Amino acid sequence: MKYLVLTRVAMLNFALNLAKKAGEYLKESFGKELNVEHKGRIDLVTQIDRNSQDMILDGIEREFPHHSIMAEEGVSKTTGHDYTWFVDPLDGTVNFVHGIPFFCVSLGVFKRGKPFIGVCYNPMSGDLFSAQYGKGAFRNREKIRVSDTSLLIDALVVTGFPYSLARLDDSMSRFARILSEVQGIRRFGSAALDLCFVASGSFDGFWEVGLHPWDLAGGVVVLLEAGGRVTGLSGEEFDPHHGDILASNGNIHNDLRRLMQGEPG
Ligand code: IPD
Ligand code: CA
Ligand code: CA
Repeated sequence: MKYLVLTRVAMLNFALNLAKKAGEYLKESFGKELNVEHKGRIDLVTQIDRNSQDMILDGIEREFPHHSIMAEEGVSKTTGHDYTWFVDPLDGTVNFVHGIPFFCVSLGVFKRGKPFIGVCYNPMSGDLFSAQYGKGAFRNREKIRVSDTSLLIDALVVTGFPYSLARLDDSMSRFARILSEVQGIRRFGSAALDLCFVASGSFDGFWEVGLHPWDLAGGVVVLLEAGGRVTGLSGEEFDPHHGDILASNGNIHNDLRRLMQGEPG
């Protein structure tokens, strides 16, 4: 038992240090000349994303060589081990490229498919969000909790738009339905930080379609440990491999779910 507790703490500390190290590298590189490549029409990647990922994966390989890994820039390793690391070495690449200091390193560890550890670090603001299953969620050293907003008209929600325009009509009608019932909608450009800001009570809800496990995993652990709720858009059980996500403080979840589906109030 003692060994188990030590392992959990060690893994969280390891993840925190790794996110900080990669984050400091992102900060040093911010604002410098970049070689920007396109993975898709509007989906960007830079050498900085790749270097940050190499730094993170080197660390995981050295410390936990038997763990599975799924990382954004083309690395996937399935070992059959209990633990899987979901790595987004730079969540918010478009912001980074445009000189907007809103991005983070996001690390999520799932244990036998269940949320276990989450760390999201924005090196520009110094915000280090972290959580571990059953131990609560933190922003730097301070414990965080979701808001207690219970009416949609008081709710500030955040969303993102996928790089693919394949489901644009659905996305736009969903956006319009939500806009007409909430206090406001924001689009900040980092799904991981969006989730962390729901966790810390600044936003009351978040939704997006077409995300990837590395966008979600870290922020979802932080949100759940802060008392939030995460499901698919129709309220189905959250699955990091199914990228349509609805996250909230819990109180407004059913109302948001209804709006996602276009159901009458
Ligand atoms: C993106 C960001 C953005 C979200 C996109 C993601 P990336 O991740 O999280 O907020 O709207 O869907 O792909 O490409 O910057 O790692
Ligand atoms: Ca991402
Ligand atoms: Ca990324």
